[in-house]
Amino acid sequence: MTRIAIFASGNGSNFEAIIKYFKNSTIEFICVSDNPEAYVLKRAKRLNIKSYYVKHENTLAFLRKNKFDLIVLAGYMRILPEDVLKTGTFINIHPSLLPEFKGKNAIERAFGAKVKKTGVTVHYVTKEVDSGEIIARETVEIRPDMTLEELEYQIHKTEHKLLPKTIEKLIKKYNVLLIGSGAREHALADKLLQSKLLNKLYLFHPNDGFKNLGEIIEAENYNELSEKAKEKNINLVLIGPEQPLAEGIQNIFSNAKIPCIGPDKYWIQLESSKSFAKEFMQRNNIPTANYMIIEKTEDIKNIPFEFPYVIKADGLAAGKGVYIANNKEDAQKTIKEYLNGKFKEASKKIVIEEFLKGNEISLICFWDGKTLLPLSAARDFKRLKENNKGPNTGGMGAVCPVDVDTIEIKKYLNTLKTALIKENADFTGIIYSGLIITGTGVKVLEFNMRFGDPETQVLMLNLESDLLEILIAAIHKKLNKINIKRSKKPAICVVLAARGYPDNPATGDEIKINCNQDIKIFFAGVKKKDGKLYTNGGRVLSVCAKGKNALSLVYEAVNDINFKNKIFRNDISL
Ligand code: AMP
Ligand code: GLY
Repeated sequence: MTRIAIFASGNGSNFEAIIKYFKNSTIEFICVSDNPEAYVLKRAKRLNIKSYYVKHENTLAFLRKNKFDLIVLAGYMRILPEDVLKTGTFINIHPSLLPEFKGKNAIERAFGAKVKKTGVTVHYVTKEVDSGEIIARETVEIRPDMTLEELEYQIHKTEHKLLPKTIEKLIKKYNVLLIGSGAREHALADKLLQSKLLNKLYLFHPNDGFKNLGEIIEAENYNELSEKAKEKNINLVLIGPEQPLAEGIQNIFSNAKIPCIGPDKYWIQLESSKSFAKEFMQRNNIPTANYMIIEKTEDIKNIPFEFPYVIKADGLAAGKGVYIANNKEDAQKTIKEYLNGKFKEASKKIVIEEFLKGNEISLICFWDGKTLLPLSAARDFKRLKENNKGPNTGGMGAVCPVDVDTIEIKKYLNTLKTALIKENADFTGIIYSGLIITGTGVKVLEFNMRFGDPETQVLMLNLESDLLEILIAAIHKKLNKINIKRSKKPAICVVLAARGYPDNPATGDEIKINCNQDIKIFFAGVKKKDGKLYTNGGRVLSVCAKGKNALSLVYEAVNDINFKNKIFRNDISL
């Protein structure tokens, strides 16, 4: 994580401006003063920032012992010798437009010289006073009627803005590659672009609706992608969908020594094999529905559950592999279809489960091998039709934050964490628990090893912390240091799907959008041609909003978005 030292000798108003600017960040700031009486030390105490009184002659020893990514001189009244400057990157703020008025009393001298303008400069520190390379400057006009006090006030105000912004620029060093083409990835891209730590966003396979948000990397396969990622100095990879993970993309990036958010080939099985997940839960006493595995049609007669029961393809089936059978004929037909390859290899093995009753929640957590850090509980609407009728889909809408029994959830997370640690789940990624709150407690319906779609669309609106900061903490196994901020305001997402979804979605219908400002549209199955947008997949787009009017805003917008026979649910709400 980023550590920044701020050196000040006096009052520390620049110090306070920096701390306030970065208040929601996990950057670790510390305050250093060469003057034990300096007011800045009192400010640091009030702002809860670690502070040190370091005698000028002890600075070298202090900086050899304590490493920082950046050292900011903010009213530090000493000249630092070369051996000290060699310990890191030092910047200084000076109240003039350098190279004019170097040295002490710069504001007074500029005022006395009756120049028309002066200003503020941030520069790297070298052993010559106020002479290092300039990083940023901002002008302040000196009006003829201005007093010295007014000028000083304007200069300080300018400093308080320029210094934090310049620090922000200097610490933006993460080049992130985001993989995936859905509305989930659009929402993740949107959130990453808000990060104070992002240098540049790269995209692999974005759809036409968000490909303008980053630089696209093209590659034939994941090996080529990881080579290109190395060339571009990408230092973090975030993987949206399950397919690349199941194909082992994490292992490829980790061989290339590029940190990656997503499980390895072994742990993706919690999602890609329902039987693997069931056995993991059974070994670790994680509550879940009773089940049996079948691989031959003859096994049907041994199924011990009453109707309705649940038939699940063992492997990945794009969220469509679950069927609830109400009677024998129904069950036999479905099981035969599955075993005969309805979902190809994914349904050659089937998990049969007892049917559970209760409200469902999606609990999505960051995981770093030691700490599970949950986002707000969310709910998705998996069935195609209102009142949970119709076939399962990839998800027709989502809401958050859902009210949950926090004690029960904590207990569940503890059980899951213990199991992951016991089985040495030493990866950095996302663990999504699909939970059902039954009369006999919380039970797991499924695990996904990635962000949910469409839950992510609402969760990114809900998350007030910097997503990239959390991901960086995760790759450093420091999730325990994150004080995550989740909003209490409702966030709603309604998915618009193409006619024919989920079985045979139509493509090529023109989409017309005419909505107001307060909503977010995240694109999925869309294609651009000659400046026009067309449908190009099942789930076309997600319409989202946050705040007390979110529901009406979203449904107004849904009316203002048109394409032929669009499908959506009218009953998405918290
Ligand atoms: P899954 O992909 O396993 O989450 O299943 C998709 C959806 O099917 C779930 O969100 C539930 O609505 C439903 N479902 C899955 N398993 C069960 C179960 N054992 N009892 C009741 N409903 C289930
Ligand atoms: N919303 C369900 C999923 O992402 O699998």
